[in-house]
Amino acid sequence: MVMKPKILVARAVFPEVLLKLSDNFEVTANQEDEAWTPAQLIERLQGMQGVFTTGSERIDAALISACPDLKMCANMAVGFNNFDLDAMTAAGVLATNAPDVLTETTADFGFTLLMATARRVTESEHFLRAGSWTRWRYDMFAGAEVHGSTLGILGMGRIGQGIAKRGAFGFGMNVIYHNRSRLDAATESGCRARWVTKEVLLSAADHLVLVLPYTAASHHAIGAAELAQMKPTATLINIARGGIVDDAALAKALREGRLAAAGLDVFEGEPRVHPDLLTVPNVVLTPHIASATLSTRRAMANLAADNLIGFFVHRQPLTPLNPEVLKA
Ligand code: DGY
Repeated sequence: MVMKPKILVARAVFPEVLLKLSDNFEVTANQEDEAWTPAQLIERLQGMQGVFTTGSERIDAALISACPDLKMCANMAVGFNNFDLDAMTAAGVLATNAPDVLTETTADFGFTLLMATARRVTESEHFLRAGSWTRWRYDMFAGAEVHGSTLGILGMGRIGQGIAKRGAFGFGMNVIYHNRSRLDAATESGCRARWVTKEVLLSAADHLVLVLPYTAASHHAIGAAELAQMKPTATLINIARGGIVDDAALAKALREGRLAAAGLDVFEGEPRVHPDLLTVPNVVLTPHIASATLSTRRAMANLAADNLIGFFVHRQPLTPLNPEVLKA
């Protein structure tokens, strides 16, 4: 009898995805969604050849050397800053992520957060729920204009381009972006976006949306100095990763009126949120839900599962991050 490879599913997942995995693997699953420490993850990975992660589990050199049977990690996320890719590649461990299937849903949410932030939706709802609405007033919760304003995008991958299209074609916005590499002319005109330097982006944007990957180079890419370059009437939206923004500096700028408002879906050290952000009113806070529609989360989970099946059964993962491991 051929032994099925052993895999660990590190977080709760759709039952039908678990069933599909069970057809191909001997599965140990964390359907109770218990929070594991790194040491507990290592303990549970003993004897496992593969792991299904969600972006919260750190896979680094220490874990790899403690789990000698591990051959592959499939992330149910497009971001993979929880992977030390160099360490994985050096050890011959394949990494996969879940791109494309979440692009439009995440771009929708980027725009949702932009609109909610600019038009002060949560702040005014709290006011109403608190019973403070006693009469209409000409300037009550007056927000920032969205249509016709300047939309700045930092990081112009697939999600950034989706946001640019929504802004340009849906709201007649003037779209500028900054990215390490400039898009080709056809892609730029397809999303009616213009490349500018980071300095111009910061000083010209009425709404600045962050969609860049989190790396050592993008740590605190928006800190006190960058916030000081933005218009005091501007809004800042982060749907990328916590750690790209210096949350303490942002809370200070919001409190001091040096920035109009912020919309944040991601936080440094989440699920903890910097306490200063919880006490400023002009910030919309959501718990990392940009890709959260059931159909998109299902597609992400299926892609992670199909990557595991692709690698272990067919030697052909769908979205490898370090394909050189396959050649070695
Ligand atoms: C991703 O895919 O990187 C998201 O942030 C996870 O929801």
